[in-house]
Amino acid sequence: MRGLKLLSFIVIAALLLSGCVPTGGNQIKIAILAPLSGPVPTFGVMTRDGALLAIEEWNAKGGVLNRKIATVVEDSQCTPDPAVNAANKVIDQDKVKFIVGEVCSKASIPISEIANAKKVLQISPTSTNPDVTVAKDGKTKEYIFRACFIDPFQGQVGAKFALENLKAKTAFILLDQANDYVKGLAEFFEKSYTAGGGKVVGKETYTAKDTDFAAILSKVAAAKPDVVYLPDYYNIVNLVTKQAKEKGITAAFLGGDGWDSSDLDLKAAAGGYFTNHYSPDSTAPEAVAFLKAFGAKYKDDKGQPKVPDALAALAYDATNLLLASIKEAGSDDPTKVKAAMEKITFNGVSGKITFDKAHNPVKSATLLKVTDKKVEFNSVVNP
Ligand code: PHE
Repeated sequence: MRGLKLLSFIVIAALLLSGCVPTGGNQIKIAILAPLSGPVPTFGVMTRDGALLAIEEWNAKGGVLNRKIATVVEDSQCTPDPAVNAANKVIDQDKVKFIVGEVCSKASIPISEIANAKKVLQISPTSTNPDVTVAKDGKTKEYIFRACFIDPFQGQVGAKFALENLKAKTAFILLDQANDYVKGLAEFFEKSYTAGGGKVVGKETYTAKDTDFAAILSKVAAAKPDVVYLPDYYNIVNLVTKQAKEKGITAAFLGGDGWDSSDLDLKAAAGGYFTNHYSPDSTAPEAVAFLKAFGAKYKDDKGQPKVPDALAALAYDATNLLLASIKEAGSDDPTKVKAAMEKITFNGVSGKITFDKAHNPVKSATLLKVTDKKVEFNSVVNP
């Protein structure tokens, strides 16, 4: 036994010295920063799994630039401080030059400041707030990209749907002002909704720590709006819509991509609608192939194929986009890769992606309806 160990040690040492074993240094490292714990863990799990599927497929075909792809996964918790720590760790200790993440705008924005300053290419799959890719002075952050549409468009799609499809003349807006995504999307919705002739009859704020929404829901009940716009994440949506139903509020709730989760409480949110990036019902060939590959790799508690959501689809697209750009650049120098990414045309699961000057893709949105049994595809809205 000891002899065997010694022998294998000698063999490995010899291989390493001769350069026949790929060492860490030869691999291309990608960091995945996602909220695996904290308020929205389904976002993190789906993002990680979508990204890992893409990497597995590339590695099965030999990697990129004839090098294997290695990953570093960090839990950035959808929260600025852990996100900053994770970004510093992967850049300074793990020496990554590429980051896929974060999910939440309020985590992606601080990460982008670090990545851009250190010339590390960051692509957020899902962060929709404009400030992720554009600095306060209006300049595009050179090294920062995203794979999703942005909230001025998402808010406009929601407003148009409220006005034209739901025939809603009045809206009540509920928001968490400390969440960049929620605050931004609420503003963009309001702008488009009032410009389109709708009237905002009330606006109330809460915090992410609140669990009892009785006070603000009483105001909603009194205002009798046609729709309630609630552009927050599923954890908050579950609480608010449940308490609204208990209060007898019948107005339709409308939200954004943050509603997308296998943990969305369908009973509570039934009758609501939300804008999103993807639907597993999509019949586009890229989407059909992705649904199949994802379900083959990942199973739920009952051993059934897992159904990917928008987080998984966009993480898959963002990772594929990044690897295609590295390949196109013929180099893993982020300065060359970002130049390649700016020019790329990429057919993803979530649609065709080309970047505008602010490093944002111009893409269509999907409208989904929540019933007490499932989330149904409603329609696609083009930019
Ligand atoms: N768009 C959200 C944000 O910027 C994140 C998100 C995207 C959540 C897609 C769910 C689905 O914070």
